[in-house]
Amino acid sequence: MPKLVHRIGGVLAPLCIATFFLATILIEWFGSHEAVAQLKSLIVTPGLWILIPAIAAAGSSGLFLSRSRRGRLVDTKKKRMPIIAANGLLVLVPCAIFLNRWAAAGTFDTTFYVVQAIELIAGAINLTLMGLNVRDGLRMAGRFRASSPAARVS
Ligand code: HEM
Repeated sequence: MPKLVHRIGGVLAPLCIATFFLATILIEWFGSHEAVAQLKSLIVTPGLWILIPAIAAAGSSGLFLSRSRRGRLVDTKKKRMPIIAANGLLVLVPCAIFLNRWAAAGTFDTTFYVVQAIELIAGAINLTLMGLNVRDGLRMAGRFRASSPAARVS
């Protein structure tokens, strides 16, 4: 069961971030203000309601699965997790909520675009860290060939 929960959370969380990130860039470039407001609303509901439980599920089930594991891969994944969680809860969630409010009110000022830039940077950082956790997770599960013998220690 924890393995299944981890697999679902571990796939869903990076998928959400990647979807929000790509959709934001495309709509900001090519969409109208109405389309931006629609996307901001979707990112909050249902977006955040999927992303936050997915991160929590991946983190908690990952820690459970790692109880019987030793090695560099598991230690590195553990170290990345607080950064992923803090970045998600303290940066991505507030950014998404404020951007949604401002976009709904038609306020597309400098503050909106500064916060939008912060959200994209935080999203890129989380996507990178989650991508590395997926890669190391697949190595630990034996689904991905390690590139060096050291990486196989687990
Ligand atoms: C958002 C963060 C995380 C993501 C995206 C993620 C992703 C993944 C993925 C995709 C797998 C492969 C699952 C499979 O194919 O069966 C995996 C495996 C694994 N992950 Fe994570 N993971 C995350 C956090 C963690 C954390 C914090 C730990 C704890 C150290 C952890 C420990 C493990 C372990 C032990 C496995 C191997 C499970 C097995 O034996 O099959 N993960 N992870």
